[in-house]
Amino acid sequence: MKASDALRRAIPLLQEAGIADGSRDARVLLAHALGIGHDRLTLKLPDEMTGPQEALYEAALQARLARQPVAQITGRRLFWGQSFRVTRDTLDPRPETETLVAEALSQPFLKMLDLGTGTGCILLSCLKNMPMARGLGTDISDAALQVAVGNTRDLGLEARARFRKSDWFASVTGAYDLIVSNPPYIAAEEMPELAPEVRDWEPHLALTPGGDGLEPYRIIARDAPARLMPGGRLLVEIGPSQGAAVSALFTRAGLEQVRVLPDMDGRDRVVAAVKPGGDSCGCA
Ligand SMILES: C[S@@+](CC[C@H](N)C(=O)[O-])C[C@H]1O[C@@H](n2cnc3c(N)ncnc32)[C@H](O)[C@@H]1O
Repeated sequence: MKASDALRRAIPLLQEAGIADGSRDARVLLAHALGIGHDRLTLKLPDEMTGPQEALYEAALQARLARQPVAQITGRRLFWGQSFRVTRDTLDPRPETETLVAEALSQPFLKMLDLGTGTGCILLSCLKNMPMARGLGTDISDAALQVAVGNTRDLGLEARARFRKSDWFASVTGAYDLIVSNPPYIAAEEMPELAPEVRDWEPHLALTPGGDGLEPYRIIARDAPARLMPGGRLLVEIGPSQGAAVSALFTRAGLEQVRVLPDMDGRDRVVAAVKPGGDSCGCA
């Protein structure tokens, strides 16, 4: 079969299955099966596919029709300009999380902690762009930590990034001038409303802590001050309706300069706070 025929066949199938951008997904999956970047797909469309390419494409198409996320099928996700390995054990890094990375990189830091690191996308993106910094990524999932270690190797950051299994701060020692986290924050009652790609395929451990979705922020507010250097920054990703609640937790914990920052779509996405006691420039 020619690659162009494979593409033409897949698009209506994906659209009939209710997949919003079936045409884009078909192109990404075809490029994956051909082993090329999707920017080169148009050049290859007139070519005959090999047997293994057809088999890989068919398997990818069936997985997508079963609503598996594209990043899990291809095993890769582009985040902050770098390619990260993604598996069923990790959250697929979201573009809105880049808001947190941008804020983290807006000031210098030397020692960073990323709680619930998943693929390591936040920690590794920050370290890649802050050459003097070192960091620790933690997660409660051994499988996620293995993926993060692989991504660290791929990005050549082994000398500056370490990982440790930890239930939030339980196994964390030392003090940091930057603590970040994108914890699971979806309330239990919101889980049934999620898209099947998220609800049925991504690890629930990465999506929801149960209850009102705020428990990780309560733990972070309670334990972060002891692990922040004076003047150190705390940045957490939030769901768009959680800004006031998380800000109140951080203020009550004695943190200062508490701010809620919007993402590219204008929705509340990050809460930032500072531990009192730093120098006047705000540097840690
Ligand atoms: C929303 S995902 C974020 C993953 C990654 N940081 C990102 O932004 O793509 C939340 C992560 O927190 C981890 N996690 C859940 N409960 C945890 C706990 N009690 N302690 C540490 N990490 C936890 C999950 O395994 C998951 O990797």
